Amino acid sequence: MPGVSQFTIEEAADESAKAYAEGIRSVLLFGIPSEKNERAGQAYAENGVVQRAVRAIKKAAPELLVITDVCLCEYMSHGHCGIVEGTHILNDASLDLLARTAVSHAEAGADIVAPSDMMDGRVCAIRAALDAAHFPDTIIMSYAAKFASAFYGPFRDAAESAPQFGDRRTYQMDNANAAEALREVATDIEESADMILIKPGLPYLDVLWRVKERFAMPTAVYNVSGEYAMLKAAAQNGWLDERAAVMEAMTAFKRAGADLIVTYWAREVLPWLENGVSGR
Ligand code: PBG
Ligand code: ZN
Repeated sequence: MPGVSQFTIEEAADESAKAYAEGIRSVLLFGIPSEKNERAGQAYAENGVVQRAVRAIKKAAPELLVITDVCLCEYMSHGHCGIVEGTHILNDASLDLLARTAVSHAEAGADIVAPSDMMDGRVCAIRAALDAAHFPDTIIMSYAAKFASAFYGPFRDAAESAPQFGDRRTYQMDNANAAEALREVATDIEESADMILIKPGLPYLDVLWRVKERFAMPTAVYNVSGEYAMLKAAAQNGWLDERAAVMEAMTAFKRAGADLIVTYWAREVLPWLENGVSGR
């Protein structure tokens, strides 16, 4: 995709420092390990790619808030977000690996850990592990309502994390079921999530609105890769005015209640905002 690439650790640190100088205040990291296995060993390795990147970024831009994606799919040979036995995901057995991953990110210096795996009970397991490891202040931003979605396609290509068999519908939300999404959010809050995230963004603004209204929590939205790809492709073809369309989408996120927007457009949006133009 245009404007989307994999970075080496040095490049990530460099880009982070540049982004900070431009006014960006936080980044979200995803790792692509050199080796994948059945236990996602590189997800929680002390010298894993994300752990090293966090340290390098904190050195290059100490004030930049570093959020890490906590999941196993990029690190698993089969590409699923949990441990697999036969064709089943082992929910509870996966919690330990997720908790170890979160603690290893905190040890590296991450400010916020963001579990995106959708296993049940993982917020509770991660909070307990962080507290036990003396990281009571590490924030958990939980992907509370993450829907099984066709809009993740470009990300899976970039992160080399497409599942090798089956799909993710046994752990990600059914996109027709808003009630289930609200229950998932309630559970994550009970388990002590500090912030919750809705994903994808644009096709799920109704869920974002309902979650913000009902729970009044710090609420984030993830404007995912497929949403980015759609507008980028249209803009490149001259079919849409990118700046106007993007600012309209960002305004929609704010209108629907988002406190934080995760978006591949962040660095482009910043100067547009500073010029005080809504895009029109
Ligand atoms: C999986 C994960 C996904 C994304 C980030 N981490 C979804 C998935 O592959 O099921 C999607 C992000 C995007 O599309 O921008 N843990
Ligand atoms: Zn995953």
